[in-house]
Amino acid sequence: MKKKNDILSANGKLGVLTPGMGAVSTTFVAGVLSIRKGIGRPIGSLTQMGTIRLGKRTEKRIPMIKEFIPLTELDNLVFGGWDIFEDNMYEAAVHAGVLKKDLLESLRSELESIRPMSAVFDPDYVKRLNGTFIKKGKTKMELADQLREDIRQFKIENKLDRMVMIWCGSTETYIESDPVHETLAAFEKGLKENDTAIAPSMIYAYAALKEKVPYGNGAPNLTVDIPAIQELALQNNVPISGKDFKTGQTLMKTIIAPGLKARLLGLSGWFSTNILGNRDGEVLDEPLSFKSKEVSKLGALEYILQPEVYPDLYKDFYHKVRINYYPPRGDNKEGWDNIDIFGWLDYPMQIKVDFLCRDSILAAPLVLDLALLMDFATRAGMTGIQEWLSFFYKSPMVGEGLYPEHDLFIQLKKLKNTLRYLMGEDLITHLGLEYYEQKQ
Ligand SMILES: NC(=O)c1ccc[n+]([C@@H]2O[C@H](COP(=O)([O-])OP(=O)(O)OC[C@H]3O[C@@H](n4cnc5c(N)ncnc54)[C@H](O)[C@@H]3O)[C@@H](O)[C@H]2O)c1
Repeated sequence: MKKKNDILSANGKLGVLTPGMGAVSTTFVAGVLSIRKGIGRPIGSLTQMGTIRLGKRTEKRIPMIKEFIPLTELDNLVFGGWDIFEDNMYEAAVHAGVLKKDLLESLRSELESIRPMSAVFDPDYVKRLNGTFIKKGKTKMELADQLREDIRQFKIENKLDRMVMIWCGSTETYIESDPVHETLAAFEKGLKENDTAIAPSMIYAYAALKEKVPYGNGAPNLTVDIPAIQELALQNNVPISGKDFKTGQTLMKTIIAPGLKARLLGLSGWFSTNILGNRDGEVLDEPLSFKSKEVSKLGALEYILQPEVYPDLYKDFYHKVRINYYPPRGDNKEGWDNIDIFGWLDYPMQIKVDFLCRDSILAAPLVLDLALLMDFATRAGMTGIQEWLSFFYKSPMVGEGLYPEHDLFIQLKKLKNTLRYLMGEDLITHLGLEYYEQKQ
């Protein structure tokens, strides 16, 4: 890990590669293009709108994060990616139906110029889709080599200085760790022998890391959670992070649950259900893809509420998550939560949340922040799992033997303290010593 003066500069162009050019990816790219033109604002983006307090409160130093750390300017981002459908970014954005037609028209030529590269795909891993723009190769290693060639070509053609890869592709079916995932040697043997336990997303991650491109995992796929890929990340000094963008209902959960715990209010049940009608919803309608999402969504409450530390309050609470595909809603998801809590003398109470959210509007700023911060991490010499980026993910990655931090407010503190540490500033403890110092 480097400190302030050794962190490499953010000059030059940064390529942002997204496997998957669907609703999230197109909303992210169209958003950045409109922000560059001054016709949109980066609401929800920590790197663009967030501030960071430095030193004592009396010093009144609160710079914007983007002015505090060296980050790539939005004008220097170049977009590319892969999809199993040949639609360019304009067509894909129209299909996704997230952004208004007139906004897309004003960005049309730039969006049309971003065309996907053909994908590495396996219908066994995403059962509801049947695209045709797919690479062919005798082995999974050959497919990885083709992706590596795509990455190298993209860098040359666009005169890039650096690249990041953020997975914005569909959710793959649920799989558990397999012996082929255990070591890099076993994984590379598996690539050559077409091992069925190697998912397409793992082939992208492998290709990225071999090319020293950091990889962020926006879906609940197993991809970078396996020792083989983590070994490669460390070997090549590349950061990885994941998994599953924290948007919608889980965002609400990680805001509300820390509050309940702070006030020592008990929980007997939390029932969450959603309706959504975009392509993501269609993929998640398939039970094995839903299983990946379910596992990623269920972890948050257990870790935040710590039933083993607070058995009187949180032992045996009932937690259920449902996602229902409902086409009329498109990307405008509705998430309901029924929360059964109890207070003083065990008296029961209920909280109802009805979040009429827009999935991709919440996810797009996370793609931007992750792209910029993963690039920053690379220039700061940080390698392997980037736990300080947990803030952006539903199911944060952690090193072996550690538990993931799900509380949004602790995650934010961790992120900002990491930035303070790297930039040689004091960490903030919120002790409030200024008051006593003034009195002396
Ligand atoms: N929208 C959110 O709020 C949100 C939140 C958390 C996670 N996610 C995850 O982000 C991902 C993208 O979501 P979305 O709403 O954009 O979905 P989407 O269906 O609109 O887009 C996904 C795209 O990936 C493509 N794809 C599938 N497999 C591929 C492969 N192997 N290679 C290249 N392309 C491939 C599909 O053709 C599709 O165009 C999903 O996995 C979703 O679960 C989204």
